[in-house]
Amino acid sequence: MFGTDTKGQEQSSLPGFSRSSTIDPTIRSHILQGLRDREDDQYNGKGRMQDKVGVITGVGPLNGIGTATAKLFAKEGARHLYLLDIQDESLNKLKEWLEDNYPKTKTTTIVGDCTSSLVIEDLLNQVIDQEDKLDFFFANAG
Ligand SMILES: NC(=O)c1ccc[n+]([C@@H]2O[C@H](COP(=O)([O-])OP(=O)(O)OC[C@H]3O[C@@H](n4cnc5c(N)ncnc54)[C@H](O)[C@@H]3O)[C@@H](O)[C@H]2O)c1
Repeated sequence: MFGTDTKGQEQSSLPGFSRSSTIDPTIRSHILQGLRDREDDQYNGKGRMQDKVGVITGVGPLNGIGTATAKLFAKEGARHLYLLDIQDESLNKLKEWLEDNYPKTKTTTIVGDCTSSLVIEDLLNQVIDQEDKLDFFFANAG
């Protein structure tokens, strides 16, 4: 989805999506490294998200921050993750991966635009109807 240009900056191949110059690739690498360190097989989680229910937006790219966060939260024992992205191409793959690796964590995927108040309202109603609580909302898509 994202390649690199001649200056090593990441570029989006998606129409309407481009990496803004305000995104510091160094910060992104540090965030991803911190998340991936905890993906290590040696680290089994400490139950820090035990029984937590919440939303993560922007979980499309399998190598992105949203996906890495979803994996880490499942490893830390989250009860139910609601994963939203405007594209559906990677959502199902991630859901399958999470169900295979963390069967105790329930995963619900939603294809929608996080800038739409209707989409967010519907999503939050669904979360409250199903789980009767919302512990976190990670507004990662931007
Ligand atoms: N300021 C900084 O230095 C800095 C550094 C790193 C990341 N970030 C930000 O953190 C966020 C996550 O980074 P990443 O590298 O994982 O991003 P990414 O570009 O790899 O993934 C973002 C995802 O958000 C989805 N998305 C975009 N607009 C959406 C919308 N309106 N509704 C729903 N989904 C939408 C895209 O489809 C994509 O799957 C981005 O917003 C990025 O800009 C900022």
